[in-house]
Amino acid sequence: MAAKQNTHKLTKKSGYNILLMHGPNLNLLGKREPQIYGKMTLDDIHQELEIICQKSGVVLECYQNNSEGALISKTHECIGGGYDFLIINPAGYTHTSIAWRDALLAVNTPFIEVHLSNIFAREEFRHKSYFSDIAVGIISGLGSTGYKLALNYAINSLLEKE
Ligand code: DQA
Repeated sequence: MAAKQNTHKLTKKSGYNILLMHGPNLNLLGKREPQIYGKMTLDDIHQELEIICQKSGVVLECYQNNSEGALISKTHECIGGGYDFLIINPAGYTHTSIAWRDALLAVNTPFIEVHLSNIFAREEFRHKSYFSDIAVGIISGLGSTGYKLALNYAINSLLEKE
């Protein structure tokens, strides 16, 4: 599976849809500063998440894009019940994007913010996130495990609603 600027449906079984969104440069995972972001590619991460989804029957869609506008338009697909929960790594847009924040507020869909690295242990400009205060929660610094934790939380919170 190519981790490009595209969408990939991993499983298709239950009524719940979770959207995993990756911001700019995360298509380069595995090659990009591996000492900070690890050696796993986006495809490796998605494959691990697929195993979790197959057990639960929840549908996970993975989307990566390098453009702010595309990420915002994808977020708008939550309107009308397109997605029940979002997991987002806004990458560099974490620290800049009021517009993507506004889109998340507009669609009113719960989301978890995930970062591979600990943004609070890095340069000061990374300490500010435009998303954290409106997120259900934030996971930062646990590498790819952060996505698994976020996915398990999202699935449990959706299934608990039944
Ligand atoms: C990141 C942290 C951001 O500061 C950075 O711009 C990224 C990745 C992370 O996953 O650790 O691109 O979101």
